[in-house]
Amino acid sequence: MSDFVGRPAPQTGTHCKPKQYDALYRQSVEDPDGFWLEQARRLDWYKQPTVGGSWSFDPVDIKWYTDGSLNLCHNAVDRHLADRADQVALIFEPDDPASAGRSLTYSELHGEVIGMANALKAMGVGKGDRVTIYMPMVIEGVLSMLACARIGAIHSVVFGGFSPEALAGRITDCQSRYVITADTGLRGSKVVPLKANVDAALALDGVDVDGVLVVRHTGAAINMLEGRDHWFDDLKSDVDCPCEPMAAEDPLFILYTSGSTGQPKGVLHTTGGYGVWTATTFNYVFDYQPGEVFWCTADIGWVTGHSYIVYGPLINGATGVVFEGVPNYPDHGRFWDIVDKHQVNILYTAPTAIRALMREGDDFVTSRDRSSLRLLGSVGEPINPEAWRWYFEVVGDKRCPIVDTWWQTETGGVMITTLPSAHDMKPGSAGKPFFGIQPQLVDNEGAVLDGAIEGNLCITHSWPGQARSVYGDHDRFDQTYFSTYRGKYFTGDGCRRDGDQYYWITGRVDDVINVSGHRMGTAEVESALVLHDKVAESAVVGYPHDIKGQGIYCYVTLNAGEEHSEQLFAELRAHVRKEIGPIASPDHIQFTDGLPKTRSGKIMRRILRKIAENDYGALGDTSTLADPSLVDRLIEGRQNR
Ligand code: WT7
Repeated sequence: MSDFVGRPAPQTGTHCKPKQYDALYRQSVEDPDGFWLEQARRLDWYKQPTVGGSWSFDPVDIKWYTDGSLNLCHNAVDRHLADRADQVALIFEPDDPASAGRSLTYSELHGEVIGMANALKAMGVGKGDRVTIYMPMVIEGVLSMLACARIGAIHSVVFGGFSPEALAGRITDCQSRYVITADTGLRGSKVVPLKANVDAALALDGVDVDGVLVVRHTGAAINMLEGRDHWFDDLKSDVDCPCEPMAAEDPLFILYTSGSTGQPKGVLHTTGGYGVWTATTFNYVFDYQPGEVFWCTADIGWVTGHSYIVYGPLINGATGVVFEGVPNYPDHGRFWDIVDKHQVNILYTAPTAIRALMREGDDFVTSRDRSSLRLLGSVGEPINPEAWRWYFEVVGDKRCPIVDTWWQTETGGVMITTLPSAHDMKPGSAGKPFFGIQPQLVDNEGAVLDGAIEGNLCITHSWPGQARSVYGDHDRFDQTYFSTYRGKYFTGDGCRRDGDQYYWITGRVDDVINVSGHRMGTAEVESALVLHDKVAESAVVGYPHDIKGQGIYCYVTLNAGEEHSEQLFAELRAHVRKEIGPIASPDHIQFTDGLPKTRSGKIMRRILRKIAENDYGALGDTSTLADPSLVDRLIEGRQNR
């Protein structure tokens, strides 16, 4: 039986019909340089590039458009002044629906970006400097990113939900000398003490910056350190501030993301290729039509926000929504209130939000109109077919196609998805490769797998939006992504390809877990736990969670003489939140007298995963364990029953 769901008709989108997709895809892989030089014409360049890709995956050296020069703030803002100065660029929807929102036209956005760029210059920020952005979801967050791009500074946005410790690590890793923050933020009426967190981060040993720029958002009382901290309102000015011409390969931003080992890596993206990639994917994947309102519910602290709140939509001259709040405040109908209020046509959100809202019943949705919606998108983790159907049938009234977009921080933008007017959909499958993307499935030994089969997902050819390095550690970039299967980019994901050449992402095959669409290294949670003075050793694994996709399950051994208790559970949870942030809160902690190790001392995570999944019937071979009797005790003490 076919598992296709047909494209709802009629479609207003006309960008790409099935035959066009086939022709464009073929062209994009047969003549990538020709194809991507053509797509580069979407942008304004000071010097139009004549060179496409110059790349190698072994040794790893990735460049695109090497002879081009451009500025992405110019492309996102200034160049629209000619024909859409009075069109709304950004609509701000505050956390509290009763508070005043605001909207900015492209002309107003231009003025505000210049104000921010001048404030940065007044603090001493120059081309190539790293600037850490720790902001709530407000217009000024977007302005901060664009202002950096304007003057050639490299932004490093840190999600406002991260703790002072995590923020400090991300400031020191890239030797950032400047921070942009706000007094406080609001999420579901809860106050996020952003400036106080910055103060706490900067009070830690070895953490130091030259300037902190503070946006007044809620008006809450905060401390300002003379000489270091500056109000944005005091430093902004409207003197002329031209865009800095950037080489295509000049860095645009660093974004920290978790991997299977060590601390988060500063993934580095550059200007030209990333700009072309976000502009092209936004145009095709969302089939954006002039005048439509696009809403991506992500936070600018994640790559989704970078590519589809800021760069993709604005380079395309779109109208976008910036939402400060959360889906369940003041009630579970907030998303649909916003859709109606701002007449949103395209909604791009995450499976975890869809599942959480689905649980609250259909009334919150059906009591709202939603007739403006034309297209729905999903991103961040595999979407289970049940949630897909609810999104399609209840939210979209079976009228709106869904694009399930697979990609990663490292890929810069969407890599695998159906295109709304080109492909039929299959619930749970991301679909087909985007232009220029050549996926390959390999087995654990690296042998290429053909036909309908499951394997490890690699990409064999570079694409313009690909990350170029890990900031300050190119070896780690090579090791992490190109050494498992030499000469290929390894995504870390498992994937099945079916007989229709549709791709089904099955989830991470490394020690990375995906909690509510947030990527987390189990190693990071482990290092946070062992920092606690009562903890001797820990092992962290993911397990299936109804709402969050995956939950965090921790095995902990205590130092001699320490007793486990409910109180210690709470203490360890709070400790992890402090070290990383609330998104890393353990769901379960199992205290154990040991971890299952081989005689050579390697932790057998396979066993720990099975027990955490409450699926301990088939643990496989446990005979190589140093202490096989431990397994029974682990099963006995399991927490997820
Ligand atoms: C990992 C990347 C892409 C921006 C948000 C997350 C998982 C992402 C999908 C999808 C199945 C998905 C993968 C990937 N993922 N989108 N549509 N279907 N899985 O970016 O934090 O870099 O995480 O998210 O496992 O490797 P990220």
